[in-house]
Amino acid sequence: MKDFCNYSLLKHNTFGMDVRCARFIEFSTVEELRGIVLQTERFQKPLLFLGGGSNMLFVGDFSGTILHSGIKGIETISEGDDIRLRCGSGEVWDDVVEYAVSNGMYGAENLSAIPGDVGASAVQNIGAYGSEVKDLIVNVEAVDIQTGDICKFTSNDCHYGYRDSRFKHEWKNRYVITYVTYRFSKTFEPKLDYGNIRSFLLAKGIDEPTARDLRDSIISIRNAKLPDPAIMGNAGSFFVNPVVDEKKYSALHEEYHDMPHYLLCDGRVKIPAGWLIEQCGWKGRSLGNAGVYEKQSLVLVNHGGATGAEVVALCERICEDVWKKFGIEIYPEVNIIR
Ligand code: EPU
Repeated sequence: MKDFCNYSLLKHNTFGMDVRCARFIEFSTVEELRGIVLQTERFQKPLLFLGGGSNMLFVGDFSGTILHSGIKGIETISEGDDIRLRCGSGEVWDDVVEYAVSNGMYGAENLSAIPGDVGASAVQNIGAYGSEVKDLIVNVEAVDIQTGDICKFTSNDCHYGYRDSRFKHEWKNRYVITYVTYRFSKTFEPKLDYGNIRSFLLAKGIDEPTARDLRDSIISIRNAKLPDPAIMGNAGSFFVNPVVDEKKYSALHEEYHDMPHYLLCDGRVKIPAGWLIEQCGWKGRSLGNAGVYEKQSLVLVNHGGATGAEVVALCERICEDVWKKFGIEIYPEVNIIR
């Protein structure tokens, strides 16, 4: 177990905010975690569970205790029609994808190179290029911070939706995730229909990609569109794509024929927030040291030395403009920690 006071969070948030927390504790086993949660009165409040810090914006120093999972391990627990991997919540998600692709386990290729840890994958239902991790999750193990009990939830129990789960609502601050078990297929069935994946592969002369080809292509497509946090601080998509009803969509479509959109099975329509933001003229613009990424308006970036407050101010201006122009409310996907 690691336990630090007045600890810098610079390496623990991909936005690159130079802030500190009063206390930082990293547990590496379930027993260590249970020991901590059964004695929470010993720690400065509030408590915050931090994964890879790839979906967090710290507005200032954090006056409480940060709990960070250092639970490692990628273990094959069963092999039948599918292969199941039980992974520690402190493993890097993309290491799991790499492990799967290298070992003939399929289904996660389109989720390559998403920053963050295994624990966060199950909170956030990470998704990209037509795949969502909920379709791979078999179960999630967690410790109840009120009782110290060890719990196991099925994917159904977690009520997964688009970038959503019970861990973001009624289970928030209740459970700390310790392990996630994912299911992989033994047969490779590439998903190539989202965006430009197929044409990207064809341009490389590949018409029957292997899982490795697909993973490499997804990594290249992401690298071309999304900023590398090691170079320019960011937390991926800053906003969630908004969903509107059919009436609202029809009214917008009358005016904006080229508006990209995705029909959902319940008849509602998802509109890319990046497109809305670009239409408002924000693509590539900055406010102080915070800016809108020049190649993808969904991503807010730290041009160097930005404060969390600057990013929040930028976010608020963008939300206001999108509301004024389109009558659509957009919300941050990133957790803003004040
Ligand atoms: N678009 C614009 N301008 C922009 C950005 C996008 O016009 O500045 C348009 C694109 O041309 C396209 C549409 O919006 O027609 C959708 O764009 P894209 O395929 O890039 O996807 P997205 O909806 O903007 C989502 C995820 C991303 C994920 C991509 C690819 C959310 C909130 N974001 O973005 O996730 O990589 O799809 O699957 O759902 C992340 O979570 O950090 C992330 C990057």
